[in-house]
Amino acid sequence: MVVGDLDAKIAAAAEMILASRSLVVFTGAGISTESGIPDFRGPGGIWTRFDPDDFTIQKFLSSRETRRKQWKILIEGDLFSSVKPNRGHYAIAQLEGMGRLDCIITQNIDNLHQKAGNSPDRVFELHGNMQWIRCLDCDERYTVEQIREILKGGVEVPECEKCHGTLKPDVVFFGEMLPPDVLNAATEHSMRCDLFLVVGSSLVVHPAALMPAYAKEAGAGLIIVNIGDTPYDSRADILIEGKAGDVMSKMVEKVREGE
Ligand code: APR
Ligand code: ZN
Repeated sequence: MVVGDLDAKIAAAAEMILASRSLVVFTGAGISTESGIPDFRGPGGIWTRFDPDDFTIQKFLSSRETRRKQWKILIEGDLFSSVKPNRGHYAIAQLEGMGRLDCIITQNIDNLHQKAGNSPDRVFELHGNMQWIRCLDCDERYTVEQIREILKGGVEVPECEKCHGTLKPDVVFFGEMLPPDVLNAATEHSMRCDLFLVVGSSLVVHPAALMPAYAKEAGAGLIIVNIGDTPYDSRADILIEGKAGDVMSKMVEKVREGE
């Protein structure tokens, strides 16, 4: 494992990116906290304020009260629609612009990689995306803007306008299957890459957290940029404890210098 101070580690990570033929970037909520979206397990994260057991798909379907709480959390964050990408997202978009990114595998549902300029077909959203709300009874889809208007009008639990069925954000709840096509594609890219860069994830939620293991098994290098420990720290070639925005901007600058 590369040791040394932050700048030395960032320079070493840039060298690995310059030598890579297939870089996969894996992101978690930690890359979006600098855009004002709380993470889940960091200090003050969502699961330090709400009980994740309340947010299983079973609870969401069985209890109107859970649906009311879930919609309240989502509307609190303005359903993510007004949030903006930060320097961490833009740095990763630059890697694609430099032709140095195979794909992004993200656990985030905030659409910020696409907003930062990454091509949607290179962003694999393992846990879905908040842009669509779907009726579980008739499959009618609504945009997040449509639902936000209904919620802002004082409705606490929005229903399908077509069939009065249950509406659910197109994101994966605990206990729900991940979208198989996305999971398969992410697994394949992880098994084929030669460098796997984790940014802002505690790497504790499966099956998403299996991706770095697939990459390591395939002989890829592993770089982790995170504040706090992860179960993969001992297997990382480079472990960088730092803020995603700072670290990723400096790393991409070093890659540019090395071109
Ligand atoms: N820079 C670097 N790391 C950060 C930053 C930052 N600015 N802000 C927070 N972090 C770190 C936190 O300390 C934490 O270790 O990012 C990590 C985020 O971990 P989690 O909150 O567990 O988020 P994530 O790994 O994405 O969770 C995975 O769990 O609840 C489910 O579906 C949800 O997709 C989510 C999944
Ligand atoms: Zn319906």
